[in-house]
Amino acid sequence: MYYLNMVFNVIVSALIVIQSALALPFNTLIFFIDNQASVFESGDDMYTVIWSTTLPGTGYVTYNYEGTEYTVKDEINGAIRSEDSIHSVRIPKKHLDGNSYTCHSQHVGARRAYVALKGRTVSSEPVQFKGYSGQEEIHALFISDIHENPSLAEKAVKNFDTEADLIVMNGDAVSFMTDAYKFKQVLSHAYTFSKGSIPVLYTRGNHENRGEYGSDAIEIFKTSTGGMYYTCSYGPVQFLCLDSGEDKSDDDWTYSGLVDYTSYIERETKWMESLTLDENARYRICIAHIPRPDNRYGNDWTQILADLGIDMFIGGHKHRINFEYNKESPFYMMLDGGKNGDDRYIATMVNIRENEIYVEAYDNEGTMRGDHTFAFDS
Ligand SMILES: [Fe+2]
Repeated sequence: MYYLNMVFNVIVSALIVIQSALALPFNTLIFFIDNQASVFESGDDMYTVIWSTTLPGTGYVTYNYEGTEYTVKDEINGAIRSEDSIHSVRIPKKHLDGNSYTCHSQHVGARRAYVALKGRTVSSEPVQFKGYSGQEEIHALFISDIHENPSLAEKAVKNFDTEADLIVMNGDAVSFMTDAYKFKQVLSHAYTFSKGSIPVLYTRGNHENRGEYGSDAIEIFKTSTGGMYYTCSYGPVQFLCLDSGEDKSDDDWTYSGLVDYTSYIERETKWMESLTLDENARYRICIAHIPRPDNRYGNDWTQILADLGIDMFIGGHKHRINFEYNKESPFYMMLDGGKNGDDRYIATMVNIRENEIYVEAYDNEGTMRGDHTFAFDS
């Protein structure tokens, strides 16, 4: 594979040199942004801007903040990443909220110890980003279990009267994660619903674990914890976004003996136990794909979540809506939809207000699949 890549790079590099000499548009035809950027929550007070290009190259984001021009590069340990076609840059939230940003990438055909062959630079249009701006009611659009097909979800989303302030992709955006092209599908879905202008909260579903690119994909997010679990806030709401792992034990034949989610979830559990959530948050909402916090690889998260003051747990995975899931739980639990047994996709809008959370769900045929008000003391 290494030699195949090297041969391909040499051919592409030679073509770049020839086309430059002859002023031909070859590089324009083969190198461009194939997935516009989306802005993902990645823990604490940071966003990670992620986009992709047709071929490997560099990535950087430019913006102005309080009179200073910033250029933030996609680098790791001091080296600018240039061998990947997926680019990610981490930016403080206060720099991006209410601001505009532009993404850039330069094609890198080959990179050796003392030389690199670089092609053209492509840039996105400037994108105006809307973070929390003090609005009294917050609209969080939940889209889980897309499984490669966002068209039904798009139809379902059109039924809501309100525009989303943030998007929650609650797992199983794709059915497996074998290579970078599968992660590009996640990016495509994220952009379809966010247009890069509102935050995306992404959780990993069980299906995104399946395939050798599963852990590579998580590294792209550059989260504070290093795993696909993190906290973030949107105005008065604090979110605890969790990685619920797989839906079967590590020794199931499905995983060929090549997973160790037991250790990963153990680390995540210890991290949860070390947390102190924001005491001033009006609501604390936990998001996780699999709605079984009572048993994650033998760990019962219920008491940990209760101790953290979680008000509500929103899960996916079941491909249905349920506003009173597991009534025994010390916090509200609900399921957010997905493609139902009747082949209709259900999307959910969570409307967060001062003393209540009003949830409504529509399917792609325009049928309201239910609504519910969760009451909270003032
Ligand atoms: Fe699932």
